[in-house]
Amino acid sequence: MTDPLVVFTPSGKRGRVAPGTTVLDAARRLGVDLDSVCGGNGICSKCQVVPVPGPHPKHGIEMGTGALSGPNAVEERYDRVRGLRPGRRLGCQATVMADAVLDVPPESQVHRQVIRKEAGDVAIALDPATRLHLAAVREPDMEDPSGDFERLRDALRDQWGIEGIVAPLPVLAALQPALRRGGWQVTCAVHTPRRGAPILVGVFPGLREAPPLGLAVDLGSTTIAAHLCDLSTGAVLGSGGVMNPQIRFGEDLMSRVSYAMMNPGGADRMTEAVREALNALAREVCEGAGAAPEDVFEAALVCNPVMHHLLLGLDPVELGQAPFALAVQGALELETREIGLALAPAARAYLLPCIAGHVGADAAAVALAEDPGARRETTLVVDVGTNAEIILGNERMTLACSSPTGPAFEGAQISAGQRAAPGAIERVEIDPDTKEPRFRVVGDARWSDEPGFDAPVTGICGSGIIEAIAEMRMAGIVDASGLIGSAEATGSERCVPDGRTFAYVLRDGIRVTQGDVRAIQLAKSALYAGARLLMDEMGTDVVDRVVLAGAFGAHISPRHAMVLGMIPDAPLDAVRGAGNAAGTGARMALLNRGMRARVEALVSDIRKIETATEPRFQEHFVAANALPHATAPFPNLRA
Ligand code: FES
Repeated sequence: MTDPLVVFTPSGKRGRVAPGTTVLDAARRLGVDLDSVCGGNGICSKCQVVPVPGPHPKHGIEMGTGALSGPNAVEERYDRVRGLRPGRRLGCQATVMADAVLDVPPESQVHRQVIRKEAGDVAIALDPATRLHLAAVREPDMEDPSGDFERLRDALRDQWGIEGIVAPLPVLAALQPALRRGGWQVTCAVHTPRRGAPILVGVFPGLREAPPLGLAVDLGSTTIAAHLCDLSTGAVLGSGGVMNPQIRFGEDLMSRVSYAMMNPGGADRMTEAVREALNALAREVCEGAGAAPEDVFEAALVCNPVMHHLLLGLDPVELGQAPFALAVQGALELETREIGLALAPAARAYLLPCIAGHVGADAAAVALAEDPGARRETTLVVDVGTNAEIILGNERMTLACSSPTGPAFEGAQISAGQRAAPGAIERVEIDPDTKEPRFRVVGDARWSDEPGFDAPVTGICGSGIIEAIAEMRMAGIVDASGLIGSAEATGSERCVPDGRTFAYVLRDGIRVTQGDVRAIQLAKSALYAGARLLMDEMGTDVVDRVVLAGAFGAHISPRHAMVLGMIPDAPLDAVRGAGNAAGTGARMALLNRGMRARVEALVSDIRKIETATEPRFQEHFVAANALPHATAPFPNLRA
């Protein structure tokens, strides 16, 4: 009699197995993605499958009711105590008796896809570096003396095929009590690095029900954002953000490097401040998810080069002067305690690689998330912060540079500027005939001229100032050179004298001054010049797609950005916000080890263009000062 045929869906993998083979063993033999933490002991429930009885013409199978063995005592006990959903079976207990079609639900798949729900959805295949495994360890024996760790190492080899695991001291310290409390069964958190021996990063008595957690961190010069993820499902359990406390040492990156240069111990103080803030953020995000920092076994971090060095405790001074040499450029795998992060005692940190001295791991994470090199069309990715990181790529080549935009796009250096917080003007429209403005503030969905609008207005944020100046340009209040006209010239009483120039009054106490327009002109010229320099290097005058990354990119209006000439001309519907692409890149590296190899390969293929020493950057910068540009046509703007 031929052996039963088993087909697993959705993978479609199929093969014959001897009658009486457990579904879990059949899955392993056929290379099917079926999870297990307890190693087939019937206690973790990760191996659940759904038998699909009935005729299956597609698979050539008629699956009868007796295709799987009935529930055994272990499965019955699990169902009685913990409850199995109707139609589900424990794959480690059910055995194959006849031809069967078995569906593996997403939560039983090790490498399931996790979909990011924000703008520009990306699917992340789950393949975390840290997984839980239950191991049954031989008790110590006077006849055969051996260490508890050595017997655990043998158990992991024999039961899970994990060869030569090593354990750092904090885990060894927890091992003996865990083994004895767990009756010689322990759940091991095993970290598998891409190079070197697997590492035991946690050990717990018996079966640990709580999933292993990971933290994806985007450490920016202004804000620090963190996402807490369940490493077994990829779900984001909580997110949070704090201001980077290093702001008190300097608003932008270069002023922080200067602080380190001018003040003995200054770099150490900044290192301490950022580590404290990261720990506080980790505590807060964990608390919000009902977890503790000790449950976090992995962190993936992205940061620009100066933040990278300060987090690591490396002196950033070399990053303040040509040739901007990094102390280390490649990806780093460390223990989190080495960088002062109080997570699980042996938790591991992965720092994404930097592209160069001015283009950091945050840009590498954006490249990973957006992957412009995977497309035929030419994509420009712009991550606007205090420094703009710019990537231009297509399937032929990928180029990157950073451009010193300064903090004007974040509302700094603007007379009524403030960060994007409740009360900040974020959207502006100006009637081209009456020159009268209307606006919206953060935290209120109504426009200022709508009934019931009474929100306090405290200032104007980055997206607000861009829209205001673009609208002023379209209403003829500002000319192509960036000059604000007088009341007589513009026909608006809102244009009032302001020293030797004019300002446009948005509302009482909030005006757009000539200095504000100049600050935005400088910032946008730097951004445009950086993008244009990369286009020169690529030998192209057009970009097909523009991706605006970062929180700012998510709020900016493509039309207004193009009216100002912040970005090169492109079809407006080909310009989109990508949300926090650096944070997404960090999450991809956290949840999938393959993404770490991918980002390292991407970075080695990206050619870095240095703006500081490139004479054409200055030429482009000067030409880009006009609104939108002195010479470049913007045909899509006219369309
Ligand atoms: Fe753990 Fe089946 S593998 S219950």
